[in-house]
Amino acid sequence: MKEFPGPDARMWLAKNKKYYATNTQTSLIVPDEEKSHLSVIVDVDGFQFIDLKCGAGVSNLGHQHKSTNIRHFEHHDGPVPSAIEFAEILAETAPVKKPAKVFFCNSGAEANEAARKACQAFRFHDGERYSRNKAIYCVNGFAGRTMGVLSATTSKAKVQRDPFITDEELARSIYIPYPTKENSRQIIDTLRGLDLRWVDRNLIELFCQGEGGIIPADEETVRYLYDELQKMGIFWITDAVQCGMGRTGSLFGYDFSWLESDLLTMGKALGDGLPIGAVIFNANLDWRPGEHSNTFGGNPTVMRAGISAFFEIKRLVESGEVKKVEQVLRDWLHFFAAGHRDLITEVRGIGAMWAVEFATPEMRNRFREVAENMTVSHGMGLALLGCGEKAVRIMPPLNIGLVELKAAMYLFGLALEDLSRVTS
Ligand SMILES: Cc1ncc(COP(=O)(O)O)c(C=O)c1O
Repeated sequence: MKEFPGPDARMWLAKNKKYYATNTQTSLIVPDEEKSHLSVIVDVDGFQFIDLKCGAGVSNLGHQHKSTNIRHFEHHDGPVPSAIEFAEILAETAPVKKPAKVFFCNSGAEANEAARKACQAFRFHDGERYSRNKAIYCVNGFAGRTMGVLSATTSKAKVQRDPFITDEELARSIYIPYPTKENSRQIIDTLRGLDLRWVDRNLIELFCQGEGGIIPADEETVRYLYDELQKMGIFWITDAVQCGMGRTGSLFGYDFSWLESDLLTMGKALGDGLPIGAVIFNANLDWRPGEHSNTFGGNPTVMRAGISAFFEIKRLVESGEVKKVEQVLRDWLHFFAAGHRDLITEVRGIGAMWAVEFATPEMRNRFREVAENMTVSHGMGLALLGCGEKAVRIMPPLNIGLVELKAAMYLFGLALEDLSRVTS
């Protein structure tokens, strides 16, 4: 008689245990994502099961119904091979303290919520729940809009945070300046004035703040902060949701041998446009069974896209493509700033993540309109995002052709000329 689980399933289950965050899984069925069809689950060793669980109400049309062809399988009840494969890749390569595990979810905010919950779970099991209940965040940071991580979202705080956050949560949040060179003295002074014994975690976008205005960090200042906080046993959460996946020129937002996060959160480009979030964390911080889970995290459609996108972005980073984009943007944007001191007050950036800061919010808004309208006057306009109070973000695809990028810079220059005419 054959034994269940079979040899392939046992291999996946062992990897699942090693790389996948503990969740609510209880099933030993490791599905063959391709072969399972309608109401029959086929496992990786060929065992068959009639599906009476339907992903707790997800697979109402069964698996790979012809109307969508979507491969189901959610990780809350059993291991999913494509999710385990992606977890292994991330756990082995991310600059997180090893051994690392991965939790998949659906957005950056959910990843940051999960990171926070993992820290709190650790303190709870450790008996430190009530003493270590403060968190350090950076001014101008953005971590998402859900209630738990609102406290970490200080960018445009008056609109995004203040009306919704509770006084209790605010009292537990400590805001420090973002670690740039200019802020280094202030950070040293602020840390000296804090009693870090009560701090559970810090959350910081590295190596560049996004929504807050594209503000690159300073390596030396981050290192000081890291050393001081780690000495006190404070969990270091890096948020690489926006600046990860090659955007800053490295796969996970930063790449320094001295910086190993306790937890690192990702989202956005990790799924190449499909909804995804991930927390890669030191296995020491893993939950106990049943403490955390979700329905769609680790579903095969998103995992397959994520694995493909990961290797394509890795190739772009390693072949120096992002550096080329960086060089073009750095040169041209500084050139524009030098020629338009009346309009532009600062150019900042790293990798393929740049901002041009205008003198006023009105100028920034007008510039965006002019740049979009060029599609009528010049046959091609520019699609730009705002950030901070008065900056525009320049974040092209990492694989943009250099001819296209230079054309974009040419149009950017023309738009500035136009803006200069209307504002003078
Ligand atoms: C740095 C950072 N963290 C977290 C988030 C939240 O991600 P999501 O919008 O997927 O919830 C964002 C979104 O812009 C972000 O930029």
